[in-house]
Amino acid sequence: MTLYPKLILDALATVRYPGSGKNLVEAEMVADNLRIDGMKVSFSLVFDKPTDPFMKSVVKSAETAIHTYVSKDVEVSISTESRQAARPEPGKMLPQVKNVIAVSSGKGGVGKSTVAANLAVALSKLGYKVGLLDADIFGPSVPKMFQVEDARPYAEEINGRDMIIPVEKYGIKLLSIGFFVNPDQATLWRGGMASNALKQLVGDAEWGELDYFVLDTPPGTSDIHLTLLQTLAITGAVIVSTPQEVALADARKGINMYTNDKVNVPILGLVENMAWFTPAELPENRYYLFGKEGTKRLAEELHVPLLGQIPIVQSICENGDKGTPVALDENSVTGQAFIELARNVVYQTEKRNAELAPTEIVHTHK
Ligand SMILES: Nc1ncnc2c1ncn2[C@@H]1O[C@H](COP(=O)(O)OP(=O)(O)OP(=O)(O)O)[C@@H](O)[C@H]1O
Ligand SMILES: [Mg+2]
Repeated sequence: MTLYPKLILDALATVRYPGSGKNLVEAEMVADNLRIDGMKVSFSLVFDKPTDPFMKSVVKSAETAIHTYVSKDVEVSISTESRQAARPEPGKMLPQVKNVIAVSSGKGGVGKSTVAANLAVALSKLGYKVGLLDADIFGPSVPKMFQVEDARPYAEEINGRDMIIPVEKYGIKLLSIGFFVNPDQATLWRGGMASNALKQLVGDAEWGELDYFVLDTPPGTSDIHLTLLQTLAITGAVIVSTPQEVALADARKGINMYTNDKVNVPILGLVENMAWFTPAELPENRYYLFGKEGTKRLAEELHVPLLGQIPIVQSICENGDKGTPVALDENSVTGQAFIELARNVVYQTEKRNAELAPTEIVHTHK
């Protein structure tokens, strides 16, 4: 038996691509690299996206069709190509981003999101290009804290890839899973889905040139943290804690997650949030509701810088809920506290970059 291209193409025309219902020839999915050598046939199938869900089954069906309609003795070799370029590998995703700062804690509710949002605003006030990624897939805060709950980012084709365009507010580029799905739905996701969504928000978004890419991370030491460490080379971590003993114990766990020898992300420093309460009518009085300077002592003990102390002030909470982070007002006492924090983060980041090699992403070995 002699093989010739039409025989093969006729067989492939019996296979439908489920995505469009058209057959593979009609859908122009058979690349023009068809080679025939005796009973050996090789060619590529072209898909729109490298992540096409039907890829495997279509390749299998194409092979079966050739065996059925041409001959079972044909040695078929099919490779796949995609019209769209693939997402860059982990660690190479954001070449124009200079510094990635993870805002983390061990304990929930200590003010990570508040610190991340206000740090982003304060860095932007200092003149840096800033992006903020809400990596808390199961409990996103960014849409509310920036009053962009209704934002629906669109995608644009850039260099042959569909890229998500971050939402911009107060000069800061923002993305959160909250823009795409109802958080109640995300809580039903399996770990793999959450980590995939996070990779998309990082690698399939047009973050562009950034001096600081701030990550608001979920509470605890979850799979999401591992995904972040496997996806992004994190320049340094900022650990938020309240002065309270239980929070400090969790802060240590948070720190260990970054400093253990498999991860090696430097700690830029600690932030003491809710350091004291000052009533508006008695501005000189400080009430140490959660104990005095616990975070400061932890910083001294661990030989890491204390980047800032943020008091408990009603406006921090209120403005967070209203979508106008307090750092927008540099003249307020709280605004100044966050500007001071941002200056210290810049100083520690530059010091870190001068002294240490760039962070490497965490590789999983199977
Ligand atoms: N310094 C502060 N003064 C007053 N309220 C604050 C302060 N810091 C945080 N809050 C309030 O405390 C609550 C929890 O803060 P936030 O959401 O930032 O914590 P979180 O660590 O991100 O929580 P989660 O672990 O759930 O992500 C919010 O209502 C916030 O407005
Ligand atoms: Mg949070």
